[in-house]
Amino acid sequence: MKHLLNPLDLSVDEIYELIYLAQEIIKDPKKYSKVCEGKKLATLFYEPSTRTRLSFEAAMLNLGGSVLGFHSADSSSATKGESVADTIRVVSGYADIAAMRHPKEGAALVAANSCNIPIINAGDGGHLHPSQTLTDLLTILRNKGRLKNFRIGFCGDLKFGRTVHSLILALLRYEGIEFVLISPEELKLPSYNKNAMDEAGAKWIETASLEYALPDLDVLYMTRVQKERFFNEEDYVRLKDTYILDEQKLESAKDDLVIMHPLPRVNEISVEVDNDPRAKYFDQVKNGRYVRMALILMLLGIEGGLR
Ligand code: NCD
Repeated sequence: MKHLLNPLDLSVDEIYELIYLAQEIIKDPKKYSKVCEGKKLATLFYEPSTRTRLSFEAAMLNLGGSVLGFHSADSSSATKGESVADTIRVVSGYADIAAMRHPKEGAALVAANSCNIPIINAGDGGHLHPSQTLTDLLTILRNKGRLKNFRIGFCGDLKFGRTVHSLILALLRYEGIEFVLISPEELKLPSYNKNAMDEAGAKWIETASLEYALPDLDVLYMTRVQKERFFNEEDYVRLKDTYILDEQKLESAKDDLVIMHPLPRVNEISVEVDNDPRAKYFDQVKNGRYVRMALILMLLGIEGGLR
């Protein structure tokens, strides 16, 4: 049984295969419009989401399958005290595959150990978000033409940002990637991520200044300060607007910079940047649906039969 709990659950070859398949789907989506007929995806979201849940659901519907699930812990039996293990055991009787988002680190792993259907971790607390990582890899590849030899800056909440932790882990397997970690002192990348970078022999630096880092970046990955993971409102209010990317700052950036953001955005990218040709975060959203179509096919073991 294959799950996607961590981006490293897929080998580099499998990731290439998946990204290749996503691009095949982009070229001819109709060809895939019935391949999941009769299959069901459950989306079990214990935390808010717009893009991730809807893109998983759109992905399954676009493959001809159907979807069921819940979009908040309040509307599930979690409010009655049911465990994740029990919930997924029941859901696996209704669905062929499930995507789960949960505020606790490791919740998707618990689910995977408690059922016999593939589980996709759609975000577990401040830990990982591997389907977003696949989306990000596809976006980098489509815009840079390669998944190696570039300098990427991660800016904002590197402490709680699971998309950051997840993408860094995945990128450590590719050659020549340099990491610039841009955050205030309080929101620095956790040491376990830095240890992973050191073990992989990756080059990385830390700075608090976006202005300093910007001119040398090939990719800039902006992030939202993760309000829901803060222990007190005061700290959040103090840190939330530390970085605001605007056109003036972007004057010093490369012409072929790729600006990414997993979204939702709050204030960290000024809306005027949306019209800058370097802004790719809405393309990133589109890529997310295709990558998730490819992922569903791969985990259900359907993709091979198509090629
Ligand atoms: C991210 C998440 O949920 O971790 N959103 C997403 O899935 N695209 C980022 C965020 O919430 O800031």
